[in-house]
Amino acid sequence: MERYETILAIESSCDETAAAVIRGGREVLSNVISSQVPIHKIYGGVVPEIASRKHIEAADGVILQALEDAGLTMEEIDAVAVTYGPGLVGALLVGLSEAKGLAYAAHKPLLGVHHLKGHIAANYITNKEWEPPFLCLVVSGGHTHIIMVDDYANYRILGKTRDDAAGEAFDKVARAIGLGYPGGPKIQKAAEQGDSEAIHFPRPCLEEEGYNFSFSGLKSAVLNYLNQQQMMGLPVNQSDVAASFQAAVVEVLTAKVMQAARDYKVKRVAMAGGVSANKALRESLEKACREAGMDFCRPEIILCTDNAAMIGCAAYYEYEKGQSSPLDLNAYPNLTL
Ligand code: KG4
Ligand code: ZN
Repeated sequence: MERYETILAIESSCDETAAAVIRGGREVLSNVISSQVPIHKIYGGVVPEIASRKHIEAADGVILQALEDAGLTMEEIDAVAVTYGPGLVGALLVGLSEAKGLAYAAHKPLLGVHHLKGHIAANYITNKEWEPPFLCLVVSGGHTHIIMVDDYANYRILGKTRDDAAGEAFDKVARAIGLGYPGGPKIQKAAEQGDSEAIHFPRPCLEEEGYNFSFSGLKSAVLNYLNQQQMMGLPVNQSDVAASFQAAVVEVLTAKVMQAARDYKVKRVAMAGGVSANKALRESLEKACREAGMDFCRPEIILCTDNAAMIGCAAYYEYEKGQSSPLDLNAYPNLTL
């Protein structure tokens, strides 16, 4: 058995209900994303129970739309891919159950996909020439990893965060300075009007050996600054805080990735995950790679945050010999690479 040429993919690990149809691994025939942002916004962050319920409401429509946009019926699909971890367990279960039901009813193989492998694979869709080996910075709401992608099947984690993920720090700081949810894009926007040197926040782990990160101290430094200003009756410039915080995150992420790239003598560096949508981070890493003579790749913005096209792409490369997952596949909130 050869690869599955046309894959219907489903993603529901957090707050986006998504479905896509992928052909030959890198061609996106459809990519439908239904975001729950407006509802979670009210609560200042993702409420897991609400996320599960909203996935149930949206899933059928999103999947049907993906098939319709691709101009295909279930009979013309070769396999059903789905994220089975990591993520919110209730949210994952909705997509997984949909995928299992479809696979069973239409007699198609089920392909379980790791969410982070999906994020990394988004690079293959944006840059059709991009191939392993390369070093990838995976920065999302739940993860901050430096990963060596040796080939399509082998991944080595060289470093990761000890506490908060970069995206989590963006979201928490945004809430603290009154920008609300979702934090990443709001901080980016506010930072455009601010001075990144106005406040000096710490650069955690920068002087340390190795490739690990820590963002909870940086978040605390921002909270301390806000308290201090309040106690002294001084105003807080939201844009300056956003710009100064973002600059600290970008500097640490760029420095650590480039250190790993030099140490491991890689020629190619990529990024992935929701935070890789950040303009300042993209520009910083791209510049560092250019100066070091390394190739750089990042997914187009719509493929940085959660989507199903990336899941279909990862499934194409993972199940290259026609293997499949059992129909009793479970959801794993802490699935490791
Ligand atoms: O990959 P993703 O959509 O979901 C997870 O797998 O977690 O990432 C979501 C995270 C959130 O923390 C969000 O604030 C962050 O990505 N994010 C950004 C930007 N867009 C999304 N962070 C910084 N700048 C952005 N432009
Ligand atoms: Zn994600």
